[in-house]
Amino acid sequence: MLPIDSAELLQACDRLRQGDVVVIPTETVYGLAASIDSEKGLRKIFSLKRRPFFDPLIVHVASFKEAASVVREWPPVGDFLARLFWPGPLTLVLPKADRVHPLITSGLETVAVRFPSHPIARDLIRLTGSPLAAPSANFFGRASPSRAEHVRSEFSSELDGEDLLIIDGGECAVGLESTVVSIHRDTQEAKDIVTILRPGGVTEEMLKSALERWSQKVAIARSESPASPGHTKHHYMPRIPLVVVAQNEPVGLSLPTRQKIQRELKLSSIANPRELELNPDAVLAARELYSEMRRLAADSDLLVVRFGDNQRGGLWDAIWDRIRRAASLNFAEE
Ligand code: TXA
Ligand code: MG
Repeated sequence: MLPIDSAELLQACDRLRQGDVVVIPTETVYGLAASIDSEKGLRKIFSLKRRPFFDPLIVHVASFKEAASVVREWPPVGDFLARLFWPGPLTLVLPKADRVHPLITSGLETVAVRFPSHPIARDLIRLTGSPLAAPSANFFGRASPSRAEHVRSEFSSELDGEDLLIIDGGECAVGLESTVVSIHRDTQEAKDIVTILRPGGVTEEMLKSALERWSQKVAIARSESPASPGHTKHHYMPRIPLVVVAQNEPVGLSLPTRQKIQRELKLSSIANPRELELNPDAVLAARELYSEMRRLAADSDLLVVRFGDNQRGGLWDAIWDRIRRAASLNFAEE
């Protein structure tokens, strides 16, 4: 990890207090941050990202006390999960406190809260003195940045000479966005329901084994519906089409597969397909996924990912969730 430059942190803090945005490293992906108390900063997040207002933002905090200040009511199981997995890549969707601006929550009564573990993110939140709203620092619908240079190249055309402060905290250790879970109480059954809205670094298995130790009745569910509004089918897209192929597909693609891809995607030709090979180690595959998508897309016109049926469970769930949503076509899992 790069050393923390305190002058840069102070500059970032000034900008955030003045209602500007700053790009911050987190352990998951880079975020485009604004103070939750600045409507001007919040608006700038949406305009720079070209993000629709119906997609709510995550609030980043640097302590449990700060988390409590943005939430109206903590269900005991939420408190239990926070104490086990924070700081870290888990976002909890809970009833929002009045201080949380409706722009952050897209008018919902709930707020998504996360306590990141990256030291620069934590220091900056503390220094600014207010929680930071931060989506991933990329255009809406595109792959998230896991390195500072991804952010620079993504926004360079948009900025038109205006300078955007990007704090370089090195490569993000997780490389995929946080796990988002919501918590509901089924009063009839006297049971809490923890629903995974987006899989991530805190895996379903980790949540399950934690909840086995929870003394009260609880169920764990997965949501495929876009209850997380930004979590639409096509998301996390690279600049060129990505296709998932079956495991036995020959390298370079068979003629029928090429023809099918051309037909379905209305491509006049496929000149230079490149295969994105997933690292067999899930931790590394997750960390490298978005970097590899960007690197290969630079000199190719089609990205190919080979479906691996042994790549299931644990962190693979989050990796395949992102690949599926990034894919224009999926021949392997229909
Ligand atoms: O790892 C991360 O979570 C990164 C880093 C920067 O912290 N942030 C991130 O933000 O991925 P973003 O905006 O790209 O994704 C936030 C997700 C979206 O799918 C959004 O719909 C969901 O969280 N979300 C936010 N508030 C919500 C709410 N009240 N209810 C349901 N889903 C919510
Ligand atoms: Mg995002």
